[in-house]
Amino acid sequence: MTNVAVNLAYIVAAVLFVFGLKMLGSPDTARRGNALSAAGMLIAIVVTLLSKGIVELHWIAIAAVAGAVVGALAARLVAMTAMPEMVALFNGSGGIASLLVGWAALFGVADGASASTFTATTVFLSVMIGGVTFSGSLVAWGKLAEVLPSSALTFGGQRFINAGLLLALVVCGVLFIVEPMPDSPFFIAVLVLAFLLGIMAVVPIGGADMPVVISLLNSYSGLAACAAGFAINNNVLIVSGSLVGAAGIILTNIMCKAMNRSLANVLFSGFGAIQTSAKVEGEVKPINADDAGLILEAASAVTFVPGYGMAVAQAQHVVQELGELLEENGCEVTYAIHPVAGRMPGHMNVLLAEANVPYDQLVEMDDVNPRMPNIDVAVVIGANDVVNPSARNDAGSPIYGMPIINVDHARTVFVLKRSMASGFAGVDNPLFFGTNTRMLFGDAKASVAALIASLKG
Ligand code: TAP
Repeated sequence: MTNVAVNLAYIVAAVLFVFGLKMLGSPDTARRGNALSAAGMLIAIVVTLLSKGIVELHWIAIAAVAGAVVGALAARLVAMTAMPEMVALFNGSGGIASLLVGWAALFGVADGASASTFTATTVFLSVMIGGVTFSGSLVAWGKLAEVLPSSALTFGGQRFINAGLLLALVVCGVLFIVEPMPDSPFFIAVLVLAFLLGIMAVVPIGGADMPVVISLLNSYSGLAACAAGFAINNNVLIVSGSLVGAAGIILTNIMCKAMNRSLANVLFSGFGAIQTSAKVEGEVKPINADDAGLILEAASAVTFVPGYGMAVAQAQHVVQELGELLEENGCEVTYAIHPVAGRMPGHMNVLLAEANVPYDQLVEMDDVNPRMPNIDVAVVIGANDVVNPSARNDAGSPIYGMPIINVDHARTVFVLKRSMASGFAGVDNPLFFGTNTRMLFGDAKASVAALIASLKG
């Protein structure tokens, strides 16, 4: 393949990545966007392997089929609630791949000669960022899968140790760049320190903050790939790495904003250990499914507000069925989506798409809030923090300032959850004691099924 043909193919791949990413921004184009980006990646891989004469075509085909089988199995078998774990492993793979590519670039120079300063710098960057991404992602996976303790592991002087590790890493990196040989002891030191720093940086972060960390590590894996792209002078790797790096950091920023926390707070505060108990105060008004069904039957505007509990209960299919039933009854049905409802970006969108909820019924927080006073019933399904009015009213609350869905402004609120337990942030929720709130206790799937039975009955 000529150089021009290769670069043209790379441009096509890059354009597919960019448009694919753009299409991921909306639920109704997301699937096509994913397929488009995957096609771009296929072109990039096949063209690279063929143009460099690295392997024969049949090996590419075998690897593509093997990769597709692993991907399809992972997509089918991994539970939706375990997606962040899977993404952590994918990020880790990206990190170690970039590390290996960067490392291999060191051997690409003539025997006995040393790499140029530019190549050595990019090798150092890909190994450092790739190593941190790899070990950090493994720790993130371990915390989410509860193979490791999910709580934030903090100890005195931790930040100084981490700062010392980073300094040592940079010093060893500079000494390696001065004399960049594959057997340089400083290179080995960079490798070891990078792995160590990845572990030490993620250990002090609580399990429940892992989605933000994973998004950040995703960004790092892109940067590592970008550095590896410079190391081996491969344009498409540079472009795709930059896109991943930028997309990851934008997503990290969106998540932090939606939680009203700074990235520094997520990374260094030791917040986010999963908490399960809450103080119960005041008087709550429980309701049973039959009475709730009667109120829903009379409603002309209902909005469902799903949260983490809907994912746990896997209630999305029954929720869709209930929504359809209400629509048949002449009611206007919407689904209000908070950007950090659940435990991963887009968690609720993915679940509702799986249950074939029409995309045009999904309404974002900023659009649904002004309409809330006209909603007859807001049905909160396993959501807690994202509907907690103390984020708006109580300056002393740990979640004060976090944007929320104002379900308390609806005429009536049903809260479907199993107990009075708090959510991720571990704070009490005054919504449960509101005069217009009725608590429908029980597993969300069973409660929604009971509402359906009541409406049908
Ligand atoms: P949470 O505040 O975590 O509340 C979930 C509620 O679901 C719990 O109070 C729980 O109460 C209930 N629940 C659990 N299992 C249930 C079941 N089987 N049936 C019915 N209810 C069940 O969830 P949220 O409102 O979605 O808020 C998300 C939180 O996660 C926010 O604080 C956010 O900042 C944080 N977070 C999100 C992300 C992303 S990217 N989404 C990333 C990091 C952190 P019971 O135990 O009483 O049932």
